[in-house]
Parts: sequence; structure tokens; C-alpha cells
Amino acid sequence: MKLIALSGSLRKDSINTRICHLMVEAGQTHSLSVDVATLHGIPLYDGDLEDAEGIPAAVTALRERIKASDGLIIMTPEYNAGIPGVLKNGLDWLTRPGDEMKPTFGARPVALAGATPGAWGTSLAQSGALINLRQLGVHLYPGYLRLSRADKALDEAQGRADLVKQLERFLNGFAGFIRGD
Ligand code: FNR
Repeated sequence: MKLIALSGSLRKDSINTRICHLMVEAGQTHSLSVDVATLHGIPLYDGDLEDAEGIPAAVTALRERIKASDGLIIMTPEYNAGIPGVLKNGLDWLTRPGDEMKPTFGARPVALAGATPGAWGTSLAQSGALINLRQLGVHLYPGYLRLSRADKALDEAQGRADLVKQLERFLNGFAGFIRGD
């Protein structure tokens, strides 16, 4: 099974992107391949830009990777209790033009996840994203991955090992949801 993990952070040392890369390792236990994607190269949504130049190449490339997957994991940071603007912007572009929304997102299995150095595991950002995902018509995995103090965990051998185990369980649960177990 092929999954894609999309990080909602552009930062080079992003803990969310690092977790996406750890999913590659964790997925191997259950023969799940994980393609790690970011939102680099996607401009701010501007209807005039869309009219003049069409859909940016970075959006089309990301869309093709999502379509080629059996399921999408959205790995979001939390900014001021919501998802980052870059992630919302990326999702907005991916729904353009309107007739691309259904093949990209309609009934696609999607798992929401997030990591923060803070205490609440991006729960507010993830709850806020539900209204957007409902609009996109995705098939939302009900399992949670809300990682608190993830910066420390990533930098400690035991914390990292525990994270891999947690990610294995999460990915295996999502794969079962996709298979309809
Ligand atoms: C944050 N951060 C943050 N963390 C959190 O748990 N809840 C929050 O509401 C916020 N708000 C917030 C706003 C802004 C503008 C920034 C820049 C940061 C901290 C955030 O979790 C931290 O910077 C993470 O490291 C961001 O994720 P990446 O880039 O490491 O993946």
C-alpha cells in the first residue's frame, strides 16, 4: 500500500517533516510505502494568477502524487490554534480548478496528524481542520496522532524509538481503515 505524508511546514528542521520521514521507517514494518511531500514552491493563491497562468506546476505535481496514493496523511503544525496558512493555501490550490476537487480529495482516505513542542499535540489545529476536510469530501480516518513535546522525543534515542512504535500503530490502523478491515 502506498501512502503520502504531506507536511504542513516549510521549515528545514520542521518536526512535522521529520515525523513524516520517520513514517517512512515505521511503515516498513507493515509493508507500507510512505512518500514524503511538502508545500515548497506553491505560491499564495491568487485568482488572477490562476486566470493568467493556470495551476502552478508545484500544485499539479503534488496533486499527481496524492492521486497516486492509497491514502493521504496531513501532518500539520499548530499555529495560533489553527493549521498554518501555508497548509490551508496548499489545500485551496489543490481544489482548483473546481472539477479537480473530487478526483483529488473526494472519498480519498485521509488521516490527520500533527506534532508540536507544546503540550496539546496540535489538537486545536486538527479540530479546526475538520471543517475544511468535510468540505473537501474526504474519507476521514477517525484515529488520532497528536504528538506533544515532539522536538524532545525526536532528539532522544528512546523517545525516537517510542515514536517509531507509535507511528507503526498509527500507520497500520490507517492502512486497515483504507482496506476496510
Ligand atoms: C506556533 N507554535 C504553536 N504551538 C502549539 O502547540 N500551538 C500553537 O497555537 C502554536 N502557535 C504558533 C504560532 C506561530 C506563528 C508559530 C511560528 C509557532 C509553535 C509550533 O508548534 C512550533 O514552532 C513547531 O515547531 C512548528 O512546527 P514545525 O515547523 O517544527 O513542523
